Amino acid sequence: MQRVPLRQYVSLLTYYLKPQWFRVTLLAIFMFGGIGLNLLNPQILRYFIDTAKAGGALRNLLIAGGLFLAIGILGQVVTLVSSYLGQDVGWRATNRMRGDLAFHCLNLDMLFHQQYTPGEMVERVDGDTTALSNFFSEFVLQVIGSTFFLIGVVILVFREDWRVSAALTAFVIIAFIIYNLIRSIAIPTYTAEREGYSKLYGFIEERLIGIEDIRTNGGKAYMMDRFYDVNSDAYQRVLKSEIMGEVVQAITRIMFALGLAISMGMGIYLYREGVFTIGTVFLVVYYTAMLRHPLDQISRQLNDLQRATAGLKRIEALQRRSSHIQDGTETLPASGAISIEFDEVTFNYTEGEPVLKKISFNLAPGKVLGLLGRTGSGKTTITRLLFRFYEPNMGEIRLGGTPIMTVLLDNLRQHVGLVTQDVQLFYATVRDNITLFNPEITDSQILAVIEDLGLSAWYASLSDGLDTVIASGGLSAGEAQLIAFARVFLKDPGIIILDEPSSRLDPATEQQIDRAVQKLLHNRTGIIIAHRLGTVERVNEIMILEDGEIREHGEREHLVKDPNSRFSQLLKTGLEEVIV
Ligand SMILES: Nc1ncnc2c1ncn2[C@@H]1O[C@H](COP(=O)(O)OP(=O)(O)OP(=O)(O)O)[C@@H](O)[C@H]1O
Ligand SMILES: [Mg+2]
Repeated sequence: MQRVPLRQYVSLLTYYLKPQWFRVTLLAIFMFGGIGLNLLNPQILRYFIDTAKAGGALRNLLIAGGLFLAIGILGQVVTLVSSYLGQDVGWRATNRMRGDLAFHCLNLDMLFHQQYTPGEMVERVDGDTTALSNFFSEFVLQVIGSTFFLIGVVILVFREDWRVSAALTAFVIIAFIIYNLIRSIAIPTYTAEREGYSKLYGFIEERLIGIEDIRTNGGKAYMMDRFYDVNSDAYQRVLKSEIMGEVVQAITRIMFALGLAISMGMGIYLYREGVFTIGTVFLVVYYTAMLRHPLDQISRQLNDLQRATAGLKRIEALQRRSSHIQDGTETLPASGAISIEFDEVTFNYTEGEPVLKKISFNLAPGKVLGLLGRTGSGKTTITRLLFRFYEPNMGEIRLGGTPIMTVLLDNLRQHVGLVTQDVQLFYATVRDNITLFNPEITDSQILAVIEDLGLSAWYASLSDGLDTVIASGGLSAGEAQLIAFARVFLKDPGIIILDEPSSRLDPATEQQIDRAVQKLLHNRTGIIIAHRLGTVERVNEIMILEDGEIREHGEREHLVKDPNSRFSQLLKTGLEEVIV
C-alpha cells in the first residue's frame, strides 16, 4: 500500500488550520504546559520521600504534598482545556472540509453521480472526513508533544544516572520500531473496514429509496438475503480490524511491563550500590511508568493516521475528480424568450449505444415544441443535454445563438427552467420546497406565484400555510408537479422544459396543471415532453422521436391538416396506443 507523501499532509494541515492559527497556538501552549506539569510532579514526590525518610521538617513535607496536589489539579484543568480546544479546532477544520467536498460533488457531472450510490457519497463526504478530524485537532501537537515528553524523561533520568537513561532510550527506540512494524500490517485491515461500511451504507440507502418497489414486487426475501451477505462482509472486515487493534494493544502492554521491570531492577541495584536514594528509585520507576502515556499516544495517533490516510486517499481521489463539464464564460441575455438550436447532436450514455443520433432542430424564441415518442426514445435525454448534465459526443446546442458550452453553467441553468418527470420534494416546509431554501425570496413573492398558477385553493387547504411541513410521500404526483411549477416560476427563466410524468393524473388536477402550464409558457420558449395528446393541444410545433432520431417535425397545424403525417395518425388512433 503506497503512502501519502508528507508534503500532502502538510499542505492539507496548513490549508485548513491557517485560518485558526490563534486557537492552534493556544492549544499548543496548553498542551506543552500540561507536559511540563507532568514532568515536574515526580520530582516533588522524590523530594517528599527522601525528606520523609531523612526525618525532615513536617512543614516542608506539607508544602511538598500541597504542591503535588495543586500541580495534579492544575494538570487536569490544562488537559480539559486542551482537549476542548483540540475538538474545537478539529471540528472547525473538518466542517470546512465537508463543505468543500459537498460543494465539489454538487458540481460534478451526472456521470459521476451515477457511479456512486448516495450511501457511498455519505461515507466519502462525512465518514472519511470524520476520520481526519483527529488528525487535524491532535496529530501534530500530540506527536510533537509526546516526543518532547519522551525526550524530557530521558534527560531528567540522565541527570540521575546515565546507565538507566541509556536503558530507557533503548527501550523507547525498540518500542518504536515494533510499533512501526505492527502499523504496516494493520493499515490494510483498517482500509478494508471503511470500505465495508461504505458498501453497507450504499446498499441500505439504495434499498430504502426503492422500498415501495421492493415491497410491491415481493422482493423482500431476496433483498434480505443480499443484505445478510453485505452485512456479513462488513462484519468480517470489522472483526479483522478490531482483532488487529487488540493485537497492537496487547503488544504495547507487554512492552511496558518489560520496560517497568528493567527500570525497577536497575533502580534497586543502584540503590544497593548506594548511588540512588529510595526517592530516586521511585522517581525513575515513576518516569518509566509515565512513558506509557506518550508512547500510547503516539501509537494511537499513528493508528488514527492510518485511518486518516485511508480516508485522505479517497478524499484526494474525489477532489482530483474534476467534472467532465468545463464551465464557460459567456452569459445569456438577461430576460426574454431565447431560441433553442440543436445542430447534429449525437449522444450516448454508454459507448456504442447511441441514444440520440444527429438531432437537428431550431425553435424560435417564444415558440413551444411538443415532444412525443415512445418510452426510451430519448426525450428526457434531450433535456439533460440542454442543461449540460451531459455533453454531446458530437454536434452543438445553441441558446439564443450562443453555444451552451461557452456559457457559464450557473447562468445557463438560471435561464432554463425544468420540471422533471418525478419531482423531488424535501422533508421541509412548503415555503422551503418552493424556494429551495433560498431565504431571499419573500413570502409575498411566493404567494403571488401561488395565486398566478391558480393554486390558491390548494394553498387554502394547507393547515399551516407556507409553514406546513411536507412529509416524505405526503403530496400527490399532481401536487408535486405544481410545486415544481412554482419553483420554476420564481426562477423566471427564458426557456421552460416540462417533462410530463407518464403516470395519469385525475381530470381536475390535469386541468389545473394545464392552466399552470399555459401561464408558465407565456412569453417563453418551451419544450413539452408529452405523454397525453391534451398536453400538446396548444403547442406551436410537434416533434416525434423514434429510437433517437427525429421521425417527424413540423408546425402543429400543418401536421394536423396533413392526413399522411404521423401526428395526424396519432390523433386518429389516440396517442396512448401508438406511443406509450
Ligand atoms: N442515466 C442513463 N444511463 C444509461 N442509459 C440511460 C440513462 N438514462 C437513459 N438511458 C437510456 O437512454 C435511452 C433514452 O432514455 P430517455 O430517458 O431519454 O427516454 P425517454 O424518451 O425520456 O423515455 P420515457 O418516455 O420513458 O420518459 C433509453 O434507452 C434509456 O435506457
Ligand atoms: Mg423521459
